[in-house]
Amino acid sequence: MAQTFDVVVIGGGPGGYIAAIRAAQLGFTTACIDDWKSKSGGPAPGGTCTNVGCIPSKALLQSSENFDHAGHSFADHGIKINGLSLDLEKMLQRKDTVVKQNNDGILYLFKKNKVAFFHGRGSFVAGNDAGYEIAVSEPANATIIGKNVIVATGSSARPLPAAPFDEQRIMSNDGALSIAAVPKRLGVIGAGVIGLEMGSVWRRLGADVTILEALPEFLGAIDQQIAKEAAKAFTKQGLKIQLGVKISAVKADKKGVVVSYANANAEAQTLAVDALIVSIGRLPNTSGLNGEAIGLKLDQRGFVVVDDECRTSLPNVWAVGDVVRGPMLAHKAEEEGVAVAERIAGQHGHVNFNTIPWVIYTSPEIAWVGQNEQQLKSAGRAYKAGTFPFMANGRARALGDTTGMVKFLADAKTDEILGVHIVGPLASELIAEAVVAMEFRASSEDIARICHAHPSLSEATKEAALAVDKRALNF
Ligand code: FAD
Ligand code: NAI
Repeated sequence: MAQTFDVVVIGGGPGGYIAAIRAAQLGFTTACIDDWKSKSGGPAPGGTCTNVGCIPSKALLQSSENFDHAGHSFADHGIKINGLSLDLEKMLQRKDTVVKQNNDGILYLFKKNKVAFFHGRGSFVAGNDAGYEIAVSEPANATIIGKNVIVATGSSARPLPAAPFDEQRIMSNDGALSIAAVPKRLGVIGAGVIGLEMGSVWRRLGADVTILEALPEFLGAIDQQIAKEAAKAFTKQGLKIQLGVKISAVKADKKGVVVSYANANAEAQTLAVDALIVSIGRLPNTSGLNGEAIGLKLDQRGFVVVDDECRTSLPNVWAVGDVVRGPMLAHKAEEEGVAVAERIAGQHGHVNFNTIPWVIYTSPEIAWVGQNEQQLKSAGRAYKAGTFPFMANGRARALGDTTGMVKFLADAKTDEILGVHIVGPLASELIAEAVVAMEFRASSEDIARICHAHPSLSEATKEAALAVDKRALNF
């Protein structure tokens, strides 16, 4: 007899595992199915984020930044290091340990919350609004029934046509996080979030990194004043970024990879590298789910079709995270997971898509929330802008990192904050204040009147808010 659960979650990434925990907290009998295997074949819940995404990339970004500081900026602080060297194997092992701690943490949380965990691939067998039968295979072998099902199967890297990933020469994010020896020349296709983060890691460790980007503008989707400041910093660091390219061929052999492309002036070029990271976006994971068995509707690009509240085309089947529309971010997936569990319980789960923060963990970090100047202009919205450079912030000077600025955009009449954009040290942490402010529909004056600790980077946030009213104090 198949075991029946109130809620079955397929996928144990940040969308799925958080949805399962919230469902269990709400008193539902809950199961979570996840197929990710550790190197030894054991369960490794946490999905892309924990295994080959957010967590390992941030571990390597931190390690490589420490190495970069030791080699360069420590001397400015009067710290001399002789014989600095890189133990890449140890650095990668540390990253693997951090990943494992997170996998184990999730298994512990499942136990604590009484979520039944099934290690294997879940696929729909049959079902209707009375319940959906799901087969779990390899390594598990079970059939379970969910009265409610949450699909949280995530996404995978999109390959270039005719250049499949071998994870040695042509790598997705997976291979890019485990390169055994620093390549002399590293190519990256796509100057998006992964390209910039992984390109930064390997440049700091000594690779000569060239990034080829199809679009004519650098980080075209973000505030262009912020993008320009970031581009300046990356170029100074030695990242070679070419915009407006058109890739025509990628050929890999034992020696390396040759990329043929046309540059922005339509001139034929080749780039010869030892290894290539392809980071040109991600595709939803729906193959293997056998959604056809129950008539689950997908859109043309393979995403599960959902309404604003994550309801699919079928009763009692929900979908969250990377497998549905919206930004592919771990915290967006988590918020959707919580909201869906609460909706199943008859509560009013809510996700505010206008206040989802974005962070690119390069150095300088880039973070933003809300609308940028291009968007406000094209919407014809009257706005005021205020910026404050970290150059004029005492804590940034003490840190030795004065790149970048904080930028506020506020409604011209009401002064409501419409967007905050930061490029600079610890932008990832500073953005939280802006998110809170926007959630409470604060005005820039509200932030300008709040006492911020001195000396702190957050004073740059206060000063940028003051600058909206042209009354910054320290600039
Ligand atoms: P996933 O994390 O992809 O999890 C889905 C899980 O479901 C996986 O374990 C998958 O194997 C499993 N699965 C799929 N099909 C089945 C099936 N049929 N049966 C059982 N299991 C199945 N986001 C951030 O917010 N911050 C970051 O810093 C960040 N860094 C990133 C760095 C990299 C290199 C990458 C690639 C991504 C990064 N992201 C980051 C994005 C983030 O990882 C995703 O948005 C997030 O993981 C999506 O969560 P999810 O639960 O929807 O899917
Ligand atoms: P992305 O969408 O951020 O960037 C892809 C880039 O590749 C774009 O600039 C695009 O114009 C370019 N591109 C597409 N096709 C191309 C081609 N044929 N030739 C050259 N360039 C091409 O996607 P990415 O970097 O793969 O990351 C996927 C997603 O993962 C991100 O959008 C983000 O949602 C998530 N992520 C989030 C992180 C974070 O929050 N810090 C870190 C890493 C990933």
